[in-house]
Amino acid sequence: MDKSMLPRHVAIIMDGNGRWARQRGKERVFGHHEGTESVRACSEFAVETGIEYLSFFAFSEENWNRPDAEVSELMRLMAVSILNERPTFHKNNIRFIVIGNRSRLPEDLNRDIDGAMEETAGNTGLTLVVFLSYSGKWDIEQAARKFAAAGAPAGHFGDYLATAGIPDPDLLIRTSGEQRISNFMLWQCAYTEFYFTDVLWPDFRKNEFRTALDSYASRERRFGKTGEQIKIEISDSK
Ligand code: FPP
Repeated sequence: MDKSMLPRHVAIIMDGNGRWARQRGKERVFGHHEGTESVRACSEFAVETGIEYLSFFAFSEENWNRPDAEVSELMRLMAVSILNERPTFHKNNIRFIVIGNRSRLPEDLNRDIDGAMEETAGNTGLTLVVFLSYSGKWDIEQAARKFAAAGAPAGHFGDYLATAGIPDPDLLIRTSGEQRISNFMLWQCAYTEFYFTDVLWPDFRKNEFRTALDSYASRERRFGKTGEQIKIEISDSK
């Protein structure tokens, strides 16, 4: 893979776990379990290829409206995944971050998250970001409140978002055939390339990730400029 065409930050909306389970005559949570294997496979692939930031939309603010049993199981899965993967994060130089409205998360999960974040804070390899109880509108609202409270000159608005310090996503992947952003990083995706695939999340493993990266590498990103301007910038930077 041509490293110069590699996205710095890949964000993923993991969708289709429920359908994947139903297709096999199983409960929806079975799909979430299998989905955690895809999270692991994609994280490994990101480390292997040298992607700097990998974000997963694991639980939205809207997901709190799902049946209680499914919400509890998702929270349990999150806690188990963190506890199981924590040694691997550290061994692989991964920095682990959770972003979202954490005041809504169970106390023991928050403790586990804090432990993993503190332990991996100094790591310099892949930054793995898990969005939990997150919504783009929540993020913009909380940033607007802090921005206003800071008074003028308040600096850049992006510095007040929950994602401050993390570069905007270059590539957003969404699985399972749905083609929408569903209240993910609304501000941050202003110039993000979108990749949609019909593959359901539990089936999205290294080969599918590679295909998405190949698609990204073939695109011309303009950031509002003309193609000619971009070509001149590229030749000047060589
Ligand atoms: C979407 O499928 C998936 C989710 C809302 C949950 C994703 C969470 C995990 C895979 C858990 C582990 C995550 C980490 C980061 C450890 P869906 O239920 O909306 O599927 P459907 O559209 O087919 O119903």
